[in-house]
Amino acid sequence: MLRTHTCGELCEKHLRIPVTLCGWVHRRRNHGGLIFVDLRDRYGFTQLVFDPENAAIFALAEKVRPEWVLMVQGTVRKRLEGAEREDNPTGKIEVLAATLDILNEAKTPPFEIDQEKDVHEDLRLEYRYLDLRKERMRRNIELRSKVLQIIRKHFIEAGCLEIDTPCLIKGTPEGAREYLVPSRLSPGNFFVLPQSPQQLKQLCMVAGLDRYFQIARCFRDEDQRGDRQPEFLQLDFEMSFCTQEDVQNIIEGSLIKILQECSKKPLKGGGVPKYTWQEVMDRYGSDKPDLRYDLPLVDISPLASGCGFSIFEDALRGGGTVRALRVPGGADLSRGEIDRWTELVKELKAKGLAYILLKKDNTQSPILKFFKEGFLEKLQEKTGARGGDALFFGAGSFKIACTSLAKVRSEAAKRLSLIDTKTHSLFWVTDFPLFEQEEDGSLTFSHHPFTMPHPEEWKHRKKNPLAVRALCYDLVLDGYELGSGSIRISHRALQSEVFDMLGISRGDAERRFGHMLRAFEYGAPPHGGFAYGIDRVIMILAGEPNIREVIAFPKDQRAKDLMLGAPSAIPKTQLKELGIRLEV
Ligand code: AMO
Ligand code: AMP
Repeated sequence: MLRTHTCGELCEKHLRIPVTLCGWVHRRRNHGGLIFVDLRDRYGFTQLVFDPENAAIFALAEKVRPEWVLMVQGTVRKRLEGAEREDNPTGKIEVLAATLDILNEAKTPPFEIDQEKDVHEDLRLEYRYLDLRKERMRRNIELRSKVLQIIRKHFIEAGCLEIDTPCLIKGTPEGAREYLVPSRLSPGNFFVLPQSPQQLKQLCMVAGLDRYFQIARCFRDEDQRGDRQPEFLQLDFEMSFCTQEDVQNIIEGSLIKILQECSKKPLKGGGVPKYTWQEVMDRYGSDKPDLRYDLPLVDISPLASGCGFSIFEDALRGGGTVRALRVPGGADLSRGEIDRWTELVKELKAKGLAYILLKKDNTQSPILKFFKEGFLEKLQEKTGARGGDALFFGAGSFKIACTSLAKVRSEAAKRLSLIDTKTHSLFWVTDFPLFEQEEDGSLTFSHHPFTMPHPEEWKHRKKNPLAVRALCYDLVLDGYELGSGSIRISHRALQSEVFDMLGISRGDAERRFGHMLRAFEYGAPPHGGFAYGIDRVIMILAGEPNIREVIAFPKDQRAKDLMLGAPSAIPKTQLKELGIRLEV
């Protein structure tokens, strides 16, 4: 090694010893005739002192600029009284430089490394290798490494084999568009990058490998959001001869370890409760509510028939529902804020957002004038709303009324600081519907097509397929969907029938999933599993607002790599070799 110590380890026990340090110039300042340089590496900062008595290296030190790379030999000495820094582990000492080697010079960086100023994200991503030199990024990357180690240890201790599955595969439906890779040796044909290793891990179970895990790279070509990346990591897990509780226990154990080792915050309520999908939808209007605050929705349908307000009455006549949300302390919300929330719910297909502001001295609402006498009092009684609160309403189909009020619920919690940010909320959501209905009336899967239906409810599939629930379960952390899993179908006949119900023709099923159907004919064991998004876990632990902050080299919001300049045009010769002609 060129160095004897890192920049983060010297302290008073090293006084008077000769050391060699290597690192980057974080800051340089001239003070009292001396030059001070804070030398930085991954481990910390050490103050170097250059004394004019050593004229040759003093002259050299005058030349150094931020981000130059230095190697310095010197002696550790105590800092002058008053110059000590308690907030830095090396803050009691400094190194008096005897030699100075400039290992490399650096251009002035496009943004300052030594300050947490707002820099445009495009610039940060273009120069990611400089951005990663910042302390916040370094901490996130260290946290990421630690989380990966905890995961690996946990699943190995749980008796799993770590099995790496290929990335050049065939489509595996998880609800997103797929990335395609042309094949030179099979012109006109394409590989598909995995949205997840779903099918391969199931085939590992057919192979009798019994317990599998993988830190798997997954690819999804979907619109970008703060908690999504086109490529991301899943902890992917599968086991044979198990119940859903077995899967849940092993997954939950890994997350508890991660939270214990990487977060100072306790779990709200001390445990990991289980709720059914119906319960969370009814109470919170969302299948991934943030339960660090309560704010339940209230079903006021029984009260609202005959209330006088036609929008509520029409919703009920049409077979829909009317829900209310009490926002404690919300009476002072401005018109502007309520208008913004109204726009948000309209994006979710709600027709509007009725509200009542129960101000201390008067009640403000555009809908009060329609109410029959006594209805407001009944509403207050049912919702517990008091002077100072606001009430919001969603009227329409169950889905639209609930999801729109769920949006208002989360906006209100942020706006009125109702979130208990000193805790984490982790819980399971079970018993999702097996199918969802598309706008054209056709059925689609709500998880993926390999999910096992509730055996009893499956018997009634012909009468009401939408009432059939699945043996599947999600895990939610602080309002984010962390992961999903299920017990899988392991019989060909059942799998074929599910494909039929999804409108996938027998021929299509054979072409796309023939390998799965065939495998199920060769002694597939009952099996189940789960996958959670590792980047999402780290984002939440790091308290970062988006997933890009915890990924070393992320794509931007348009799914581009600004540092590498990818995706990029390909030379014509290469396209020709692949048999591809472009139309753009
Ligand atoms: P699912 O599609 O729910 O399930 O994905 C599991 C988890 O992966 C994370 N995730 C993402 N993270 C970052 N960027 C993305 N674009 C992205 N998409 C998904 C989420 C999500 O909850 N094969 C099934 C699992 C199984 O059944 O075992 C699957 O992939 O945290
Ligand atoms: P309108 O009579 O259409 O002006 O609506 C009166 C109030 O009810 C407005 O505040 C609308 O935002 C609200 N509103 C309209 N449709 C709905 C709905 N389906 N659910 C909840 N509020 C609604």
